[in-house]
Amino acid sequence: MIPTPHIGVAEKGVIAETILLPGDPLRAKFIADNYLEDPVQFNAVRNMLGYTGAYKGKKISVMGTGMGIPSIGIYSYELIHFYGVKNLIRVGSCGSFQEDVKVRDIIIGMAASTNSDYASQFDLPGTFAPAASWTLLKKAVDVAEQKGIAVKVGNILSSDIFYDDNQDSWKKWARMGVMAVEMEAAALYLNAARAGVNALCILTVSDSLVSHELVSAEERQNTFTQMMEIALELA
Ligand code: HPA
Repeated sequence: MIPTPHIGVAEKGVIAETILLPGDPLRAKFIADNYLEDPVQFNAVRNMLGYTGAYKGKKISVMGTGMGIPSIGIYSYELIHFYGVKNLIRVGSCGSFQEDVKVRDIIIGMAASTNSDYASQFDLPGTFAPAASWTLLKKAVDVAEQKGIAVKVGNILSSDIFYDDNQDSWKKWARMGVMAVEMEAAALYLNAARAGVNALCILTVSDSLVSHELVSAEERQNTFTQMMEIALELA
């Protein structure tokens, strides 16, 4: 069934087996323009821009996912099941839950806890732990070490709610050691697990629920560059 309802690509092979997934489609364009060799745009349906190019000679794609679990759930499903994508790497931002997780830090989501009901579709007789691909996680950590980029690896929260009516609910996740909150990784990890493909979520800390510190868009650029240096090596 290609093109799919949300990705306007009629042939397999146009999208690389490895794809970087920022939330913002304009971020996908920025990555294509600044990091990829010979990028070609493959999608503009709903302005969810997607590109395929190369990095150090290796074919790689980048596409926006939109915000939230339903949105990344749709795009990752179509990429995996209809376009044969095997390695899906989310590159995003998150809000810190911990004193020692500072704005501008880079975080890798070893697991993604969630308050979403997304996993109920799999009808499991218990609680599934959405986890990163060990292969991608190990490679990302190795690359970061080689490049001298500090990363923190651990549990993150994929929340369905940005503006929570209970402003203290995050503290319950924090006391379980969850490092930070974003809104997509759990669906990505669940879809990848169900399909037997690889997923990873790399994040920069853009704000802190502990200190209320906030990084401006311009300031984000430096840590963004470091995050991209790690992600691109996974091609
Ligand atoms: N909450 C949810 N998602 C986020 C946040 C946040 O504070 N910061 C960046 N992504």
